[in-house]
Amino acid sequence: MAGNRTFTMIKPDAVEKGHIGAILDQINASGFRIVAMKLTQMTTADAETFYAVHKERPFFGELVEFMTRGPIVAAILEKENAVEDFRTLIGATNPEDAAEGTIRKKYASSVGENAVHGSDSDENAAIEGAFHFAGREMF
Ligand code: TYD
Repeated sequence: MAGNRTFTMIKPDAVEKGHIGAILDQINASGFRIVAMKLTQMTTADAETFYAVHKERPFFGELVEFMTRGPIVAAILEKENAVEDFRTLIGATNPEDAAEGTIRKKYASSVGENAVHGSDSDENAAIEGAFHFAGREMF
């Protein structure tokens, strides 16, 4: 059965451009409840751990540099079928391939600087949420 929570980050590019409010509005309007949320900045070690699955990929260094260059909004979101529905809401990794109206289509500038993260499985949603939040920060 699909889980009901996912983890997201509004990435440094979207924070820098002032899109936090618009993105949160769209998330709320799409039926997600915010369970946990904070403005935070990942260290290099944080980003290397968070994206460890990509460490052999050619873009890994750039990804870590990008994700640590400024604050992000980290959040846990709740909704039935959360992981899949949130991936639909954000759109394809590359904004050029993302559907009209999706968050990445509207706010991302490239495959690297793509505005938002969304967990790709229930298992990763739990791991990523726990990476950023203590139990007492989840409501
Ligand atoms: P991935 O897990 O493939 O995408 P998604 O975020 O849609 O689940 O990749 C993780 C991040 O790595 C992606 O959001 C941006 C970055 N990335 C690049 O910088 N270049 C690339 O070619 C790819 C595939 C990803």
